[in-house]
Amino acid sequence: MKVLVAGGAGYIGSHCVRQLQAAGHSPVVVDNLVFGHRAAVAPDVPFYDADLGDKAAMEALLKREEIDMVMHFAAFAYVGESVTEPRKYYENNFVATLRLLEAMLDAGVKKFVFSSTCATFGVPTSLPITEDLPQAPINPYGQTKLDVENLLKSFCHAYGMSFAAFRYFNAAGAAEDGTIGEDHNPETHLIPLVIDAATGRRENIKIFGTDYPTPDGTCLRDYIHVDDLARAHIAAFPLLEKAGAGHFYNLGTGTPNSVREIITAVEQVTGKRVPTVEAERRAGDPPSLYADSSKAIRELGWKIKYTDVTAIIETAWRWHRDHPKGFGS
Ligand code: UFG
Repeated sequence: MKVLVAGGAGYIGSHCVRQLQAAGHSPVVVDNLVFGHRAAVAPDVPFYDADLGDKAAMEALLKREEIDMVMHFAAFAYVGESVTEPRKYYENNFVATLRLLEAMLDAGVKKFVFSSTCATFGVPTSLPITEDLPQAPINPYGQTKLDVENLLKSFCHAYGMSFAAFRYFNAAGAAEDGTIGEDHNPETHLIPLVIDAATGRRENIKIFGTDYPTPDGTCLRDYIHVDDLARAHIAAFPLLEKAGAGHFYNLGTGTPNSVREIITAVEQVTGKRVPTVEAERRAGDPPSLYADSSKAIRELGWKIKYTDVTAIIETAWRWHRDHPKGFGS
């Protein structure tokens, strides 16, 4: 398959590009490099610096490269910022995706894979989170992702598009060969911040909330290796052969880990002590989020390689240790 990877220079997109190559597909990357890194994309992969919202440019690209399918990872994903600057999120995550889908229809490309999020569930009504739980996002970031999910259902019904949408839990880790990994600016995610605290690049890690109704009082999350996420996407390709069909999958390991457990695991992996500070809860954090991924396992034959969070952190540690300034190292 010739696959256009939108956001292919970003964290999850760049890992997916590698997995596509490993599976014998031909990725083409489009990324405006607002958050992506040119160095995250191998030189042998065709690269376009363009905006998804530029319909004419995208339509021309789809035709020129004779693309069979689009995978879409390009989005803003800072939950707090989405609350204070929702315009940016609706524009970039929703409107630009609508333009991309229009370009696809006009170019005759009808297969689509979409990065969604467990944030579409808001505070879940039960745990673990299955695909059919009510979706009620509690911030504009989650809302824009849910809006795209609904847009896809309509386009699938009306225009015969086929799609798979994946609700990621907490993407983590780095490529096994240590060549690419997580590099956000600013970084807000727990594992890279704890690693920074372990190496002294930051003074400490603030634990946001110690009075949650969880076993150790800190939030529970489901950390899933970025390459496991990528492999699920590729496993869904056969489903896209059927026109007019849409599929949703939750992707996590199903094992919840608390903030304190992550800190302990980073200490074990790095052999360094992590200074911690107990802080107030962060607004908008649900106490517990973890997946029931049995649908993906059953229907896609998805196999989770990294079932243990320590193994995930080992890959992250290798990347951060060898690239202290991320792609700028
Ligand atoms: N945390 C801390 N201290 C920190 C950073 C995080 O205690 O310095 C805690 C958070 O409160 C949370 C856990 O660590 O309990 C994980 O936080 P992350 O910021 O790493 O990730 P989130 O769980 O907030 O991820 C959410 C959604 C994803 C979404 C992502 C967007 O679950 O679906 O935000 O970045 F994609």
